[in-house]
Amino acid sequence: MNLAGKNVVYLGGFGGIGQKTCVELLERQVQALAVFDLMPNEQILRDWQSKYPNTKIFYQKMDITQRPEIDAVYRAAVEHLGHFDLVINGMGCLDDRCIDLTIQVNLLGVINSSLVALNYMDKSKGGNGGMIVNISSVAGIEPTPIMSVYSASKHGVTAFTRCLAGPFFESTGVTFVTVCPGMTETSMIHDMQDRTIFKFNIPAEYAVSNMKRQTALACAQNIVKVVEDATNGSIWMLDVGEIKKVEFPVMWTPPMMQ
Ligand SMILES: NC(=O)c1ccc[n+]([C@@H]2O[C@H](COP(=O)([O-])OP(=O)(O)OC[C@H]3O[C@@H](n4cnc5c(N)ncnc54)[C@H](O)[C@@H]3O)[C@@H](O)[C@H]2O)c1
Repeated sequence: MNLAGKNVVYLGGFGGIGQKTCVELLERQVQALAVFDLMPNEQILRDWQSKYPNTKIFYQKMDITQRPEIDAVYRAAVEHLGHFDLVINGMGCLDDRCIDLTIQVNLLGVINSSLVALNYMDKSKGGNGGMIVNISSVAGIEPTPIMSVYSASKHGVTAFTRCLAGPFFESTGVTFVTVCPGMTETSMIHDMQDRTIFKFNIPAEYAVSNMKRQTALACAQNIVKVVEDATNGSIWMLDVGEIKKVEFPVMWTPPMMQ
């Protein structure tokens, strides 16, 4: 997707990876950027608007665990922008002690947001098509015991996004892409020892501090490269500053796909 002139919605745009990715998008001269996030950040909005005066930037407060709020922010985005071309579901939480919240934010949040966005973008319903990018994780493509609840939620994101990229949804004109960052330096990975539910023989903090990690900027730059190049259904691992396309082996073919 050529980003210049496009209308973008970013969920979780004030987070560590979100902020850096929004700046990369603004650098590509998007026409509009709508940030949906839990808490406002007036300072960031002011900085972005003064640095990128040609882009219409606005914020909508929303809690992704509340379905009526998701409906309301998308409705507001359509009223402000007319349509949107790109949606990035980039919100998330990592705290395995909060099982319900992890599933609500990471999995139900992505599902609900994707389906509400699709309803507006779907060409067969009069929309313009476009792209929906769901941020999963390396923990969403390989089991990651230290964060097993998070890993389960992110596997769900990967599976859901792959399903919607299938042939049954071609008429929507919407491309579905999964992005799987590796360990990235944001506040999400701080104090890991307080966010696990099992005791390991290696302390969680030690295990995490030994993992190679990337900066949020490197991750953001690669997310935007993926958006520019990705095809429908593609899955991308963005780890230690590198981009790698993920290919899953076919273990079983659903009857309707045979
Ligand atoms: N940091 C990493 O190592 C890493 C690795 C793989 C994947 N990811 C994923 O990347 C994405 C961004 O993570 P990050 O590292 O920037 O984390 P972050 O904590 O800095 O940002 C998370 C964002 O999600 C928002 N959010 C959380 N709960 C919400 C709610 N209930 N409603 C609305 N918004 C909510 C936060 O406000 C914040 O803007 C997440 O999906 C995360 O799971 C991160």
